[in-house]
Amino acid sequence: MKDDNFLRENNARHLWHPMGHPGDLQKHAPTIITKGEGAHLIDIDGHKAVDAVGGLWCVNLGYSNDTVKEAIASQLYDLPYCSAFGGTTHDKAIEASYAVREFFDADGMSRVFFTSGGSDAVESALRLARQYHKLRGEAGRTKFLSLKKGYHGTHIGGASVNGNNRFRINYEPLLPGCFHIPSPYTYRNPFNETDPAKLAQLIANALEDEIAFQGPGTIAAFIMEPIQGAGGVIVPHETLMPMLAEICQRNGILVISDEVITGFGRTGDWSGARHWGVKPDMMTCAKGITSAYFPVGALLVNDKLAEVFENSGAAGSIFHGYTYSAHPVGAAAVTACLSETLRLDTRANAGPRGTQLFEGVKALAEKYDIIGDVRGGHGLMTGIEIVSDRAAKTPMDNDTMKRIHEAAYQAGALVRLGANNILMSPPLVITEAEVNTILSALDAGFAAA
Ligand SMILES: Cc1ncc(COP(=O)(O)O)c(C=O)c1O
Repeated sequence: MKDDNFLRENNARHLWHPMGHPGDLQKHAPTIITKGEGAHLIDIDGHKAVDAVGGLWCVNLGYSNDTVKEAIASQLYDLPYCSAFGGTTHDKAIEASYAVREFFDADGMSRVFFTSGGSDAVESALRLARQYHKLRGEAGRTKFLSLKKGYHGTHIGGASVNGNNRFRINYEPLLPGCFHIPSPYTYRNPFNETDPAKLAQLIANALEDEIAFQGPGTIAAFIMEPIQGAGGVIVPHETLMPMLAEICQRNGILVISDEVITGFGRTGDWSGARHWGVKPDMMTCAKGITSAYFPVGALLVNDKLAEVFENSGAAGSIFHGYTYSAHPVGAAAVTACLSETLRLDTRANAGPRGTQLFEGVKALAEKYDIIGDVRGGHGLMTGIEIVSDRAAKTPMDNDTMKRIHEAAYQAGALVRLGANNILMSPPLVITEAEVNTILSALDAGFAAA
């Protein structure tokens, strides 16, 4: 084990961090975290903070779940790797696929395809959506539709359906045939519509228009997050997802619910689609599937897709997959994590703790007029949009955002910045007292700004 000086000297020197500027990070070194405990992180200086980000919307069970840790440790001794390609499988893959399918049975999901993470799950969904239409004799259905401000990972397919310029612009040209409709972002939208129900209707109209313009027979799938996470915790009106799903289904377009954040209790339901009363054709998930104790993602499909793939000839073969699909250690983590998620009934805690956080931040908005918009109220995810001028809605500058972040951290909570938004998704096992710590740390952060 290297000493602390070694760690500080080499921080960000050899490691290019995801979603970071390599040069900036060498000048302003990232915080070195050395331990996780319950809902807390502890850094190299021994400073302890509530993890208001839950890792990256993922450590749903907190950092101290021994059942998941033991399942992973013992699997490493039994069978650290086994391929799931073609002719071999293993006990843990069979158990994990059973557990995941059961978990999403109420969403109509019937088959599971494991991946190494969320981006891989999205990529799998887009590819298999195209293959599904080919198998049905509609090879012309190749395009994808999605929402602006959506985030669907970092592969070329995912980036192409992403609705945020930041994640696209450096990597263009992206996949052709991807089109975006407006986001249910009431705070800023091209219609200047602040009523969520009316905005939902306008977005539904925009989807109908885009489908008519493209030609329904050219579109393979529509992908959306039930609540947009990385885009700033954008909560749609309850009518939006059902309306969009109905339009797609009427036009033969597959509905992919991207549940990478919203799956496994984050919204107060086991899936975001279930929260809005929608049965999608495909679901993508990751993060909470292992509470991030091991990198795993999954694509789930309903009976409609399963029947087409399973009853096709040679063309039904899936020539797509990852070396680590159904990795035994990951699969052991999935089964243990899902059984702990059910035992602890984490969705039941997400509701009241989410309301506490949301209402607490709304109270802070009375005190600080740099808070432009507060979003959440559906489970344990809250977004705060920070502005320098409330009337003009001018996005706050980066330096001030960093000052808020640092002051909140020193006062006991790690939050996440996404442009001029503060994004929060703490572990679903968080306590009332820990949510209060987040709120007082935010208070200190805003005071510092
Ligand atoms: C909705 C959504 N989809 C896909 C992804 C990509 O997942 P990963 O980072 O595991 O590749 C994310 C990541 O945050 C996400 O929020």
